[in-house]
Amino acid sequence: MMLTEIDHIAIAVGDLDAAISYYERAFGGTVAHREVVEKDGVEEALIKVSDSYVQLITPVRDDSPIATFLGSRGEGLHHVGYRVDDCAAAIKAVAQAGGRLIDEVPRPGSRGTTIAFVHPKGSFGTLIELVQEG
Ligand code: CO
Repeated sequence: MMLTEIDHIAIAVGDLDAAISYYERAFGGTVAHREVVEKDGVEEALIKVSDSYVQLITPVRDDSPIATFLGSRGEGLHHVGYRVDDCAAAIKAVAQAGGRLIDEVPRPGSRGTTIAFVHPKGSFGTLIELVQEG
């Protein structure tokens, strides 16, 4: 099995501070990491859940894909991040299995990870992020 763990569940929100506050008050969550990812036009906050995270994401510019998502779909589940040992090998396997890659080569993600996105068309409606740590 190439997927070693669920790294994060990403939820698109309009107000990051309000969403963090809700996870703190409702679930006793704490923010493990917060980062603006300029290239993707998002700010994220990671709430730790055991060895995984809830990743709250909000757009930092109008042309962010998350801004488009919020405009058309509203707030809610955006993607699932699966941990892999080798992102390059994982996307190769996905392509060979007939999946559609958004990232043809792995690229830097937040908190020093290496990531690649797989298109929801070809993955039964779920946007998938493959996450290699380190
Ligand atoms: Co993600």
